[in-house]
Amino acid sequence: MFEYALAALLQAQASGLPMHRIANIFKPLATPAESEYHIAVFVLAITGAIFVVVGALIISTLIRFRRRSDDNSHQEPPQVYGSNQIEVAWTVIPILIVFVLIGVSARVIAGVENASPPASTLHITLIGHQWWWEVEYPDFKLITANEIHVPASPDGKTATYLNLQSMDVIHSFWVPQLSGKTDLIPNRTNYTWIDPREPGIYLGNCAEYCGTQHANMLLRVIAHKPDDFEKWAAEQQKPAEDDPQLSEARAAFESLACVNCHAVRGTAAVGKVGPDLTHLMSRQTIGAGVLTNTPEHLRAWVNDPQQAKPGCMMPSMKLTSPQLDQVVSYLESLK
Ligand code: CUA
Repeated sequence: MFEYALAALLQAQASGLPMHRIANIFKPLATPAESEYHIAVFVLAITGAIFVVVGALIISTLIRFRRRSDDNSHQEPPQVYGSNQIEVAWTVIPILIVFVLIGVSARVIAGVENASPPASTLHITLIGHQWWWEVEYPDFKLITANEIHVPASPDGKTATYLNLQSMDVIHSFWVPQLSGKTDLIPNRTNYTWIDPREPGIYLGNCAEYCGTQHANMLLRVIAHKPDDFEKWAAEQQKPAEDDPQLSEARAAFESLACVNCHAVRGTAAVGKVGPDLTHLMSRQTIGAGVLTNTPEHLRAWVNDPQQAKPGCMMPSMKLTSPQLDQVVSYLESLK
């Protein structure tokens, strides 16, 4: 794990973007996250005050009414039936507190949901799969996986709107510094939006138990300066690299069952079950964040994904060593 974190840090530095390594709801860096941060602090303050008052009453009662050493009677204390005023007070006050909390929460939720989009918006369709994220950019006609590239919005004039869908079970999108959780539900489209204030890499994860590898359904939002985002999108729109020196390796890849699940634009590989691999090497991680995208990890992953991510849908293809060499060298060319 340490090795992973360190490698991820080094890679983030290589990409020139700061890495927000601890996903912290108390350090919001986007509008929805900030609204939710304020309500979290408000609720914590109220519940904290209740905790202190109730705790203090219990402790003072325990001390004041403890058994004294000179008290030898084994009788029950006198049983008094209460006071209407006190009972009304301790019923009405909590009800009022609950209504205040409901009202404030509803206002923040409505405020985030009904916020009018700024002039410049990017639309993304995010589709949850067991156990990875498909990321579609309909305006750019490109598809990637697990790493959501967006423009940063230092002036609040750009936002990214996410249509959230699921292919199988319920997942939940959560990037704590950017927004609260929103579920991805089969046969339904949910919406959320983010406007990262600073360029950088924001870590998130699936926040709804969705099966064996739920914990390894990680995602990262990579917020670029607007120009850099355009550059990234232009690179991703290009068809896959076609190095003539690798035509044999490519033919080997195309002859294997890989193509039933994976797509590489401009080749015979048009599978839709697993992540699109057209620009695989532009990603920082493989297996939805379970490994950093290094040649050794890629080779180990293709050889047997079940080692790194037991239960994942990609089987070990039991490739021979020469086949593995060819597939990996082809994949490494997909810059
Ligand atoms: Cu997807 Cu948990």
